[in-house]
Amino acid sequence: MSGMIEFDAAAAKAVEAMYLTPDVVGQRTHVMAAMGLRPGMAALDIGVGPGLLAHDMGKAVTAAGSVTGVDMSRAMVAMAAERCADMDWVTIEHGEAEQLPVASGSMDVVVSTQVYEYVTDMGAALHEAKRVLKPGGRLVVLDTDWDSIVWHSSNRERMERVLKVWDQHLADPHLPRKLPALLHDAGLVVTRRELIPLFNPDWNPHSYSAGIMMGILNFVSGRDGISEDEARAWADDLQALGREGHYFFSLNRYLFVAVKG
Ligand SMILES: C[S@@+](CC[C@H](N)C(=O)[O-])C[C@H]1O[C@@H](n2cnc3c(N)ncnc32)[C@H](O)[C@@H]1O
Repeated sequence: MSGMIEFDAAAAKAVEAMYLTPDVVGQRTHVMAAMGLRPGMAALDIGVGPGLLAHDMGKAVTAAGSVTGVDMSRAMVAMAAERCADMDWVTIEHGEAEQLPVASGSMDVVVSTQVYEYVTDMGAALHEAKRVLKPGGRLVVLDTDWDSIVWHSSNRERMERVLKVWDQHLADPHLPRKLPALLHDAGLVVTRRELIPLFNPDWNPHSYSAGIMMGILNFVSGRDGISEDEARAWADDLQALGREGHYFFSLNRYLFVAVKG
């Protein structure tokens, strides 16, 4: 079995639930601060997903401004459009990061969180982000380096194999370490770099790690030598450690702000 994760209706629901946990709500606060949105601004969210960030952006720019959300998944477009239906200055469109359905030089701020790591042609994606920005406009990017996971398990060897297979769910599991150079090569000036850790030192079913655990379980089951039974045993072990007070999870996300000169 091969191929990246598909953001169908079931995956859209799972992502939405995970992104409503306090861990990811906190992350959105950092992203909103980095965007510096003001009433009247035009902003674009590439890979808008469930529309949680686009909704916050809509409130920040007010009816005097505009927000456009773009996503290649029809299920995500439908979910984001429904979430943002209360603000007619927020528009959600089907499209791809590598070929944005957006006019050149039209955006004050462009944001893309947890999306570029799924993109195979980052040169094209950053060229597009720069094209749609106004001169002096700001691009905010946030992605995960999946090498940053620290997750306590009673079977470390199995944990390593499971996470290696999980690395296949996206185009580049280690994109953040390459982003400063990629942004520079695209002709953008990096003005801010920030580390945003997600930390679950206790078991909590309403946490980022509980959600991603289910995503990993579904993705790795029956893939590349990991049987369904082994994947289930991996997840059961983590939950048992949680019940016994031995849970520990952390992961790093990296945020970059780059400006078009
Ligand atoms: C993990 S979700 C993140 C959603 C949202 N940005 C957030 O942080 O809440 C990844 C999203 O990126 C979208 N996506 C992946 N590759 C894309 C591409 N090349 N162009 C547009 N959207 C893409 C997926 O459909 C999915 O909705």
